[in-house]
Amino acid sequence: MMVAMSTYDLPRRPRRLRQNAAMRALTAETRLHPADFILPMFVADGIEEKREITSMPGVYQHTTDSLKALCHEALEAGVKCIDLFGVPLDEDKDATGSVAWDPEGVLNRNLRALREEFGNDLLIMADTCLDEFTDHGHCGALSTDRYGNQFVDNDATLPLYAQMAVSQAEAGAHIVSPSGMMDGQIAVIREALDQAGHQDVAIMAYSAKYASKFFGPFRDAVGSSLQGDRRTYQQDPANIRESLLETELDLDEGADFVMVKPALPYLDVLSQVAEISPVPVAAYQVSGEYAMMVAAGRNGWIDFEETMMESLMSIKRAGADQILTYYAIEAAKELK
Ligand code: PBG
Repeated sequence: MMVAMSTYDLPRRPRRLRQNAAMRALTAETRLHPADFILPMFVADGIEEKREITSMPGVYQHTTDSLKALCHEALEAGVKCIDLFGVPLDEDKDATGSVAWDPEGVLNRNLRALREEFGNDLLIMADTCLDEFTDHGHCGALSTDRYGNQFVDNDATLPLYAQMAVSQAEAGAHIVSPSGMMDGQIAVIREALDQAGHQDVAIMAYSAKYASKFFGPFRDAVGSSLQGDRRTYQQDPANIRESLLETELDLDEGADFVMVKPALPYLDVLSQVAEISPVPVAAYQVSGEYAMMVAAGRNGWIDFEETMMESLMSIKRAGADQILTYYAIEAAKELK
């Protein structure tokens, strides 16, 4: 069948710039680069072999050796930063999470091992939060109010974060990343780092962090002891204005980076934070975002690799300068 020749006199034909791959590459507004990515990693005490996390296929709890091996792979792929979470033995957990600042605790020991192995070639970021280390699984210390109710005590937690951050700096972390959403945490950590002589250690502030069900698989990943939720300290998914307040406070308190978390369900937040931030803006593509795409891919319902790359592109387009993603190495390899 013959198709009639176009005689329409259109003032603009946007399809001209989409006609082939070279033209699309020439006109792409956003480009991903391996150096955009930060790889979150888990290192566990008491395991002999790395152990795959059931709800995060392809992601592991590592031993020191497998951690180092994967860091080498990251570096070769062009990823320049990792974010380390520690998984202690259950018997080492207590009410304040004190193994978090023990120089021999799982996190500090492995930060030290990585810094010794990689020097300044690979940036070592440490998660600065207590939830993996407390026996109740909350991100801070608990107190009891005068009505007998337990609550996560903001000001009792701040000195614990300060102590943890200093111990991470001593262990060799280039960046500490307070993720507990306590008010004032950036100021207190900055002051403690400076007083201990760690002026060069940067702070990536989890500024807009929501009380999100998308963190589900992470709780498996770190063997979390949490009962209940974090809604008294992490943000309400209904709100965006308070993300801007949280960001401004963290900037005033000395944050070197700000972060929005989760990423894909909160692109509007990311874009508004990016508008106001004079410092780099990171976004964390969290465990649940990763798990959903892997699961749908395994069912043959979506193309996992391409969907993943599209979602990373969307996160960058929305305003992220850095993206924390469990897919960092694979994405970096795909971009080479
Ligand atoms: C808390 C922390 C969490 C994540 C990173 N840091 C969990 C939480 O706040 O409950 C989630 C990361 C992810 O889901 O990938 N220290």
